[in-house]
Amino acid sequence: MRLITQLAHSFVAGDTNAEAIQAVAKLRDRGIMSTMDVLGESVKDRNTAEKAVAAYLELLDVIKAAGSDAHISLKLTQQGLDIDTEYCFQNVRRIIQKANALGTFVRIDMEGTPHTQRTLDLFYRLRREFDNVGIVIQAYLHRSEKDIHDLNKIGAKVRLCKGAYKEPEELAMQKMKIIRANFRKLADSLFREGAYPAIATHDFKLIGWTKDYAAAHAIPNDKFEFQYLYGIRTKSFQKLAAEGYRVRCYVPFGTHWIPYNLRRLRERKENVWFVIKNLFQK
Ligand code: FDA
Repeated sequence: MRLITQLAHSFVAGDTNAEAIQAVAKLRDRGIMSTMDVLGESVKDRNTAEKAVAAYLELLDVIKAAGSDAHISLKLTQQGLDIDTEYCFQNVRRIIQKANALGTFVRIDMEGTPHTQRTLDLFYRLRREFDNVGIVIQAYLHRSEKDIHDLNKIGAKVRLCKGAYKEPEELAMQKMKIIRANFRKLADSLFREGAYPAIATHDFKLIGWTKDYAAAHAIPNDKFEFQYLYGIRTKSFQKLAAEGYRVRCYVPFGTHWIPYNLRRLRERKENVWFVIKNLFQK
């Protein structure tokens, strides 16, 4: 049980809106913006999907009441994508519509390849109606260059990350060196033709490359942002913010943290040892 609790709290800001908004306020004190995520995914029944919609609608009120400028991030499979696409569209539309009225930006996270095309299709539909919605592109997918090209054409706001799901080699690059090279290529395309790229990585090589790129192309700091995940390399991102870069933390919270945390563990085997070591030190 303690191992589970330890695991839960490694990467998650708490169980409740109150705990999460407190974490967001602390980050703000250090010059770091946030995007808040109510944990949940792979929902298979309408009752659970509707609870997720309600949780996001409530979160928007909490953000407003706190006077916070936090964004929100969500996953379509949490909003019913695996139940029915139109149902999911209507659920997410309700959230984005309310966010729009309150001046809040909504980022649609990207999940595994069985959902990539449907996520993009739904994003394009929503983007026709709303400006306050953005999408995520994963640098490891072979298809991403074309997707970024198409997204740039409509001025879509893209968060670029490496990709967190296990994918076959027909669909995704497997070697870190190649993924990094593609990340740079896609970031270059976003900087040249896109709208306000979000560079989402903890990789110092890519962060350094982005800083050099922005300096070499005279891109002002308010034309892009760095993003990182709550609990990872925190001090480095505080330093980036202190240097004058825009930095946003992805702040997940809630009780459905298992798949999210397992992805974090899979990204870095040292995490498993970290959890086990802390467990025995207590
Ligand atoms: P990389 O994995 O190379 O790590 C570089 C260094 O960062 C490591 O050596 C380590 O020190 C540290 N680090 C990285 N991951 C760590 C971890 N889990 N624990 C501890 N230290 C760690 N993916 C996706 O498929 N869809 C999405 O929508 C998103 N959204 C998203 C938002 C934001 C803000 C971020 C930062 C990332 C995502 N991701 C994502 C996850 C992303 O695809 C990727 O899996 C992770 O960011 C890890 O890759 P890095 O580029 O950070 O580097």
